[in-house]
Amino acid sequence: MTSPSPLFRLLFWIISVFIQTIKSLFISNIPLHPPPFPLFRLPYVPLRKIIDFMDPDALVSLSFCSQKSHSVIKTQRRAPFAGRLCVSWANRDVLFHSVNNLTRVLRACYDWHHSYSNKINHVKMNGLYVPVRVHPSDGYLVSCWENETKGMKTITQYVTDLFNIDVSEVWASKQSFHMIEWVNRRQKTPLKKVIYMACSIWPSENKKMIYLLRDCTILTEICICSDAPLDFRFSGNFRRIDSLYISYGQWVTIDNLLTMDGIDIILKSSSLSNSDMNVFLKHWLSGGCPRLKLFGAKTGSVDILQVLDGLLHNAVFVENRRNYTSPFGHQWILWDGYDIQRADGVTATVHYQPLGALVIAVWPEASDNYT
Ligand SMILES: *[C@@H]1O[C@H](CO)[C@@H](O)[C@H](O)[C@H]1NC(C)=O
Ligand SMILES: *[C@@H]1O[C@H](CO)[C@@H](O)[C@H](O)[C@H]1NC(C)=O
Ligand SMILES: *[C@@H]1O[C@H](CO)[C@@H](O)[C@H](O)[C@H]1NC(C)=O
Repeated sequence: MTSPSPLFRLLFWIISVFIQTIKSLFISNIPLHPPPFPLFRLPYVPLRKIIDFMDPDALVSLSFCSQKSHSVIKTQRRAPFAGRLCVSWANRDVLFHSVNNLTRVLRACYDWHHSYSNKINHVKMNGLYVPVRVHPSDGYLVSCWENETKGMKTITQYVTDLFNIDVSEVWASKQSFHMIEWVNRRQKTPLKKVIYMACSIWPSENKKMIYLLRDCTILTEICICSDAPLDFRFSGNFRRIDSLYISYGQWVTIDNLLTMDGIDIILKSSSLSNSDMNVFLKHWLSGGCPRLKLFGAKTGSVDILQVLDGLLHNAVFVENRRNYTSPFGHQWILWDGYDIQRADGVTATVHYQPLGALVIAVWPEASDNYT
């Protein structure tokens, strides 16, 4: 686009008037009447430009104004969204998430008592009249629910239907674990990522861990930020998970590791020994875990001579500091490291921190997979 043309300045003006109008609409109570507003009399080309230009939270607010506004957004919006659609139980949000940005679109919080107040406004979502407030600082809508699960499902349905897109990520807790399956069942494209956050070591967690690691077959990226029960063990083969991040990975054994076929494998804490690492390295050198780009494990103590046992003839110490970013955005600074080469010429740097971590970074760095 070149310098702002008069048409664009006009459009910006219309948009600012427009957002004021949306805000003023929330003063009235149900039912909301269509605004006496000239926007929808614009020809479709500029109208589409305005709609594409608006942030998703503003579009959701606008969609509640009338059936006309809802259907215009649903049919005219074309521009891709910045980031992935994400359903997050942490604050009961539907949001867009990109590498450096997070745009909340709609929230479903438990706020039932407050919602009886006369002053609160209502919008119609999937046939229900739902009390809503405007978030005081960020301006997105917060809907009030007695049953938050029902709230999350309703706002998810509403946003995916309005924007005609599928959910890419679910950030789940123990309480909301069922949302993973619920989202996956109702859409055509499989979820790309699940983040599971829970702090509990109850044996009932075993089932959830096994579901994520074995049964939930269609995710490419899994982050398990949950304590595992002390007796948790995973037997059998790992399925193919492109990026696996485990915060409390003490339960991961060398046998587990040898069945993984990942691109990023990060164990934020691990009980793997130096000789386990040696076995894994030899496994990679002989063609195992062929897609691997970044492996990192915090084990507490690394003895590099044990890790490289039998491999020193193939290891070249490199003193230069190098930065490494994996396809899934995990970053390590390789202060120095041993470069080792696979028979097909692919090189990996083995870097270690004596009191901390072992890192295997495979070259070349691949570009960002995060879309
Ligand atoms: C974040 O996303 C919003 C909405 O898409 C956009 O207006 C804002 O400029 C973005 N911020 C950054 C830092 O990219
Ligand atoms: C909350 O809503 C969900 C989904 O609509 C439903 O399955 C569940 O039984 C509800 N819980 C209560 C306590 O009503
Ligand atoms: C490596 O990353 C650090 C920040 O983590 C940055 O300051 C530095 O310039 C980077 N070096 C290169 C060669 O990209």
